Amino acid sequence: MNLFIRNIRQLITVAANGKRFKRGKEMRDLGVIENGAVLCRDGKIAWVGRTAEFSEQIGDEMTVIDAGEMVALPGFVDAHTHAVFAGSRELEFAMRSEGLTYQQIAERGGGILNTIRSVRGTTKRDLKKAARHHLTEMLRSGTTSLEIKSGYGLSTDAEIMMLEAIRELAEEELPDIVATFLGAHAVPPEFTGDPDGYVKTIVDTMLPYIAERKLAEFCDVFCERGYFDLAQTERVLGAAASRGLKTKIHAEELSALGGAELGARLGATSVDHLEHISEKGISALAAAEVVGVLLPGVSFFLNHAYAPARAMIDAGVPVAIATDFNPGSCMSYSMPLMMTIACTHMHMSPEECITATTLNAAAAIDRSDTLGSIERGKYADIVLAPVPDYRFLAYHFGTNHVRTVVKHGTILEL
Ligand code: NIG
Ligand code: FE
Repeated sequence: MNLFIRNIRQLITVAANGKRFKRGKEMRDLGVIENGAVLCRDGKIAWVGRTAEFSEQIGDEMTVIDAGEMVALPGFVDAHTHAVFAGSRELEFAMRSEGLTYQQIAERGGGILNTIRSVRGTTKRDLKKAARHHLTEMLRSGTTSLEIKSGYGLSTDAEIMMLEAIRELAEEELPDIVATFLGAHAVPPEFTGDPDGYVKTIVDTMLPYIAERKLAEFCDVFCERGYFDLAQTERVLGAAASRGLKTKIHAEELSALGGAELGARLGATSVDHLEHISEKGISALAAAEVVGVLLPGVSFFLNHAYAPARAMIDAGVPVAIATDFNPGSCMSYSMPLMMTIACTHMHMSPEECITATTLNAAAAIDRSDTLGSIERGKYADIVLAPVPDYRFLAYHFGTNHVRTVVKHGTILEL
């Protein structure tokens, strides 16, 4: 099927011209075309330009959208989520409102371990049912591709149940979904006081099975005091890489341990969080061209420090923004809300935020060859919003501006 979208007030292409990501000043260059048009053919983008320059005949087989009052941009890529989970943690949210911290709640057996108890007590069917609801809402707010992590099972069976749920959702549902194995998310109760014993189970039992069945494309570790140290992180990621998985790290979230430098040395695809990244960490990511995935919603929701986005962009780190959608540290999947927080608290410009949620986010999941910009040959994933200017997406917050979502060239009925 062909789809022609024309008379677009502002067509935000985020054109990368073959580059994997944008960094430094390039992040402000959105490749805006006024009165733009896009032709989508067989799910891909076939032509991009000014409406007046389009010379092909418009036949009956072509669906036409007249987007006069709309801004168009690439579908958002949410490169870091924990969107498959069971239960919810509104009681912990209420406890935090009374002054308890995220760490205090975790030390009392809440936090990640709370969700682990819920996941272990549920079925794959119910996990998928809950996730399906989130995926539909994500699409409605413009997220057309996302990464989903396991990490709320922490036993071989429960981790595999989560990864199978993610795989089946990827096969059945509309957004493009990339799976990440996060067995090293926390030390499960069975291994309290013996994190190395748990790391051994991950390396000797979980990873071989997951790699063999190709249940995950990436492996991630929560590298943090009280979770997994640098040596344990390296052990898990080294084993994952030797089995063909690409790597990510939850790094420098609560303290500066050096996870960013480790990610740079290991050639990770992305290093995520980075609220407490050091200057050395920033230089290491820039030099190794590792994407830094920032999660403004976590800092906002937990009232924690914000990642030094300005210093990172100015140093040449390819910066992406994701939601980290999960029941504990960010119960939101709104990419535009993340942009608002990044503009107000991290001094990122609206232009940098759009690059960070599209092209650079695609690079964070190794998909920027097919996703993240409106350019010939990439998937036709396009979001249309009736706003006067693209800056409204971050500026007019707390409402969903997205009117039309095109996924692989098809207009979605949501
Ligand atoms: O990315 N930092 C570690 N893990 C998650 C939080 C998960 C949870 O609280 O359930 C995160 O923020
Ligand atoms: Fe996370």
